[in-house]
Amino acid sequence: MDFITLNNGTKAPLVGIGTFLMQPKDAEEAVYNALTNGYRLVDTANGYMNEKAVGRGLKRSGLKREEIYLVTKLWPSVYADADNAIDATLKRLDADYIDLLFLHQPAGDYVGAYKAMERAVKAGKVKSLGLSNFPEEQIQEVIAATEIKPAFVQVEAHPYFPETALKAYLKPMGTAVMAWYPLGHGDKSLVEEPVFTKLAEKYGKSNAQIILRWHTQSGNVVIPGSKNVQHIRDNIDIFDFILTDEEMTEIAKLDSGKRYYTATPEALQGYLNFAPDFDAQP
Ligand SMILES: NC(=O)c1ccc[n+]([C@@H]2O[C@H](COP(=O)([O-])OP(=O)(O)OC[C@H]3O[C@@H](n4cnc5c(N)ncnc54)[C@H](OP(=O)(O)O)[C@@H]3O)[C@@H](O)[C@H]2O)c1
Repeated sequence: MDFITLNNGTKAPLVGIGTFLMQPKDAEEAVYNALTNGYRLVDTANGYMNEKAVGRGLKRSGLKREEIYLVTKLWPSVYADADNAIDATLKRLDADYIDLLFLHQPAGDYVGAYKAMERAVKAGKVKSLGLSNFPEEQIQEVIAATEIKPAFVQVEAHPYFPETALKAYLKPMGTAVMAWYPLGHGDKSLVEEPVFTKLAEKYGKSNAQIILRWHTQSGNVVIPGSKNVQHIRDNIDIFDFILTDEEMTEIAKLDSGKRYYTATPEALQGYLNFAPDFDAQP
């Protein structure tokens, strides 16, 4: 496993397991399968309603807590009471600290919530901070009002939508990109692009592995979601080959601006109003 060094001097693995849309039972299995097959980074969120199960998967793996890079996200409905929400998140995960805590969406009082996350860093409950789905303008707003620079921004990124402009903006402050939907949420039209099939044959890898290798060579950390043990194994087996500059350039031509998700003001307002009881999960 290769690692990236972040702007606060800590290190994060380049590949992790994503758990979006996974029922608790599936999330626990995926986390267990990932950690017992070499993964060290796990991505969850309040909103996935599977943090307790993720915590069980961590425990079942038998790994020590400090061997795992645990990532979760605060949902907008808890921003107003973020100090307590961080404690509740830790309790659900059955963990003493979180390696990386994101604000999930730019809705509500996100500056106030970020300040609460900063207090959690000072209290040793969180190691690094991040912003998820924040566009440049709102990242700037948070940075101007707070002390700790985000270590990561987690955004949709894949060969159709590589987030080139955002990455250029983040580079001077050393903020890394964690790509969600790294495989386009499994979209066959992306995964089966002829360039990936060609390179998969050349390197003896699958198309998905070529895409994930493109990500890590582009500087992204990836968190592919999978319930399939063979896919989980494959998705971390990308460190024994290197795409050439010409191949990276060829893949870059797939940038079409196509994204699978766009936030509207109405959607963001809806997120703020979505306030389930996060403790009510098995
Ligand atoms: N911050 C945010 O707002 C946000 C939003 C969305 C997602 N995320 C995070 O990003 C993670 C990744 O997103 P995602 O899981 O939705 O999409 P994804 O990783 O792009 O794609 C997952 C899909 O690809 C398939 N797949 C995985 N590995 C494969 C392989 N080696 N070969 C062929 N197919 C493969 C999976 O099916 P199988 O189960 O059959 O392998 C699944 O259908 C999430 O789990 C979550 O942690 C964050």
